[in-house]
Amino acid sequence: MTTRKRVLSGMRPTGRLHLGNLHGALDNWIELQERYECFFFVADWHALTTDYASPGQIRQNTWDMVLDWLAAGLDPKKCTLFVQSDVKEHAELYLLLGMITPLAWLERNPTYKDQQQQLEVKDLSTYGFLGYPVLQAADIIIYRANGVPVGKDQLPHVELTREIARRFNFMYEKEIFPIPDPVLTEVPVLPGLDGRKMSKSYGNCIYITEAEGSIQEKILKMMTDPARVRRSDAGDPEKCPVFDYHKLYSLRDEIGHVGQGCRTAGIGCVDCKKILIGNVLKKLGPVREKRLQLERNPQEVKDAIREGNETASREVRMTMEGVRAAVGLGHSMFQM
Ligand code: TRP
Ligand code: SF4
Repeated sequence: MTTRKRVLSGMRPTGRLHLGNLHGALDNWIELQERYECFFFVADWHALTTDYASPGQIRQNTWDMVLDWLAAGLDPKKCTLFVQSDVKEHAELYLLLGMITPLAWLERNPTYKDQQQQLEVKDLSTYGFLGYPVLQAADIIIYRANGVPVGKDQLPHVELTREIARRFNFMYEKEIFPIPDPVLTEVPVLPGLDGRKMSKSYGNCIYITEAEGSIQEKILKMMTDPARVRRSDAGDPEKCPVFDYHKLYSLRDEIGHVGQGCRTAGIGCVDCKKILIGNVLKKLGPVREKRLQLERNPQEVKDAIREGNETASREVRMTMEGVRAAVGLGHSMFQM
């Protein structure tokens, strides 16, 4: 039990999760909880770094995301689920790490410039946004995590975390923080309804607890191989997002049948999609049911997070005692 490696990851509260989130991260977390000591949290302070001007959605988004986590199968008996802003020590360590983090490390962080350009409507020339990866480093090393399951886009942040942890250990001559490794997992491609990356801002998502009728309607309208205009035209399944979904949701035989039928114009797109719809609904049915059950019993959710927050708080309390001592603080001389 106690020898299991510790894994930690966070998600910004984006609200109800879509299939891209499910297959990109959540499914992976659900698997990891069987094999590791896992800490998963809602990065609500991180949400503020970009949405500080309109924070109104963060509460509701946090609630919705946590319900989806539980609905999809994260089990509070197997892993610790908590909310970043409920564990204040993250902010304390963030402050201390800020003292030793060279500005140049942050300025050359690739996501810093990328995001500033991409989110042009928001003013991201703030201290908080520049410090985003320092807060992330604090999130990770305050639990002395060994592994950080993340997508490729987060690799620069984990690398920076490693550098900050090493610098802290070196500067205060103590091995306080283990150096965490990124845990990269192969994620299947799951495009959005229009063939682009699935993203809330593109409006091309299927949500994991969406109503059956709505999922059906979306899949029926989903983009197909653009070269297949008429039913009698042969198609190329590799150019069709519907086929990417089949690879994820359908049985081998069905995938073979659909692929062959598409290439020979033996099957129409509507029939192809109907097979998919049946399979998607079968997989998501229990998730949706669990979500409805949680909505009827919100106390179960609150208890899970309160207990998670307490477990997290106990962990960080231990870390921070060592950290304060290492930097020469914490034994208040006025307390005697
Ligand atoms: N930056 C991460 C993201 O946008 C979220 C995050 C915050 C995180 N703190 C973390 C991920 C710590 C892993 C570990 O996806
Ligand atoms: Fe796509 Fe299926 Fe139509 Fe082929 S038959 S183009 S895989 S929807």
